[in-house]
Amino acid sequence: MVESLVKPEELAFNDAERAAIYRAIAARRDVRRGFVDRPLPEDLLHRLLAAAHSAPSVGLMQPTRFIVIRDRATRSAVHGIFEDANREAAATYRGEQAEQYTALKLEGILEAPQNICVVCDPDNQRGHRLGRHTMPEAALYSTVCAIQNLWLAARAEGVGVGWVSILDPARLRTLLAIPGHILPVAYLCVGYVDRFATEPELERSGWESRVALRTAICHDRYTEDDAS
Ligand SMILES: Cc1cc2nc3c(=O)[nH]c(=O)nc-3n(C[C@H](O)[C@H](O)[C@H](O)COP(=O)(O)O)c2cc1C
Repeated sequence: MVESLVKPEELAFNDAERAAIYRAIAARRDVRRGFVDRPLPEDLLHRLLAAAHSAPSVGLMQPTRFIVIRDRATRSAVHGIFEDANREAAATYRGEQAEQYTALKLEGILEAPQNICVVCDPDNQRGHRLGRHTMPEAALYSTVCAIQNLWLAARAEGVGVGWVSILDPARLRTLLAIPGHILPVAYLCVGYVDRFATEPELERSGWESRVALRTAICHDRYTEDDAS
């Protein structure tokens, strides 16, 4: 085996690089509006997919595949699947909350010139099941890591990404010819945007607010936080 180790200081991030990483994390937003009708150049899209593809994966199984969708008719069909699922979701709320839900913009499927359906092959034999004997769901987690890489890289490139989970996976599977053993994990609306929000849209609309970090941390054993 070829050893390729370097000392931390040899590959150290300088202050600006370190700050850029934290800035991308803090400035990343889920984007549902403001997409510009200008397709991403191929090389940029390739960089985003390469960022996703270099994510950690359990056993190095790399279970993630990306279906890049540009076709308008296909996006319209997905939008129809969203509308049905969203109508059903809206019907589960009552009163003021129902009104608030209906007013939310929860997807940008038609506005974003490219959509990416991210799928996971949870049983592929790559990695020889390392790390999956007791936690088979780690395959799925690996795909989610890939999505987050793409999301952060996109923000650094000035590209908006919105995750749509209000979709019937069975209908999505049929539409996109996804085989039964492959799991649809995320449906992403991706494109240049004319603005990025500085706060989560659900917070600005009063639907939900973020919790303080201290309420998410406990020490030595799990403890409930009263505030959450
Ligand atoms: C697994 C997952 C599914 C999501 N599904 C939706 C969705 O269907 N529609 C939507 O508008 N936002 C969706 N979001 C975005 C969240 O609402 C958003 O991440 C959260 O409100 C925080 O906002 P921020 O991403 O801008 O920080 C999803 C996010 C995740 C991680």
